[in-house]
Amino acid sequence: MLDLAEDTVIVISGGSRGFGRGLAAEMLEDGFRVATFSRKESPFVRSALRDFPERFLWKPLDGTDGEGIRSFTRAVIQRFGRIDALINNAAIGTDGILTLMPEADIHTLVSLNLEAVILLTRACLKSMMEQGRGCIVNISSVNALRGHAGVSVYSATKAALDGLTRSLAREVGSLGIRVNSVAPGYFDSDMSHGLREDQKKRVIRRTPLGRMGTVSDMVGAIRFLISENAGFITGQTLVVDGGLTC
Ligand SMILES: NC(=O)c1ccc[n+]([C@@H]2O[C@H](COP(=O)([O-])OP(=O)(O)OC[C@H]3O[C@@H](n4cnc5c(N)ncnc54)[C@H](OP(=O)(O)O)[C@@H]3O)[C@@H](O)[C@H]2O)c1
Repeated sequence: MLDLAEDTVIVISGGSRGFGRGLAAEMLEDGFRVATFSRKESPFVRSALRDFPERFLWKPLDGTDGEGIRSFTRAVIQRFGRIDALINNAAIGTDGILTLMPEADIHTLVSLNLEAVILLTRACLKSMMEQGRGCIVNISSVNALRGHAGVSVYSATKAALDGLTRSLAREVGSLGIRVNSVAPGYFDSDMSHGLREDQKKRVIRRTPLGRMGTVSDMVGAIRFLISENAGFITGQTLVVDGGLTC
């Protein structure tokens, strides 16, 4: 369980853009220590390295590189001494009709959206087990809960994350470690920029709260799940979609 002391160490995969960037920025503003990776440095990464040299760690890394994941985790421990929370966020949203999808795209989706999450989680768990506390949040999707044509492989990876959440929660609960998923609806980021205007309008029409999500909607859900307020919540998927799936 996290009490979010100022020296809390949060690992966020894919913290350079989109939701990962928003979360990393807020956690840094709150005084926490943040470690993240992405393939490319972004303007945010450059400014965070400049503004928070003591509390921000970023490595250039492709999440599909298993050895890279292990050395990233070692670098976090070496720098900050431990890992309190892990947010498995990095993912790609490659879409396509399954029968037309190149095999390479299928492998990359499964490798980053699922296998990398499992490997990073395993690497971070060691430090949490040593401390007897910790918190993991897997970023899933409403696509894990409802079928949508054109995203079957992406949906499969996200539904698998929810399965990982439930079983791992049972495995590590007695060690003081909580594991949950957040399933966002569509929110504004590079990933959702691929949606056409008519698709966005349809999503908004079907959403009881009448709008797309925002990065700060998602950050709010994470803040809750890693806080003491969620101290008795584990193995769950928190859907943050304005009611789209209700
Ligand atoms: N946006 C939505 O509407 C939406 C809806 C439901 C769920 N989600 C989920 O929310 C999470 C965040 O999505 P987002 O919209 O913020 O995505 P995004 O804007 O595309 O950002 C993705 C982040 O992951 C990193 N990344 C991508 N491929 C990587 C790789 N191979 N290795 C390491 N890092 C990699 C990116 O940096 P680099 O490209 O530099 O590597 C970037 O920092 C994802 O898990 C996504 O599936 C999003």
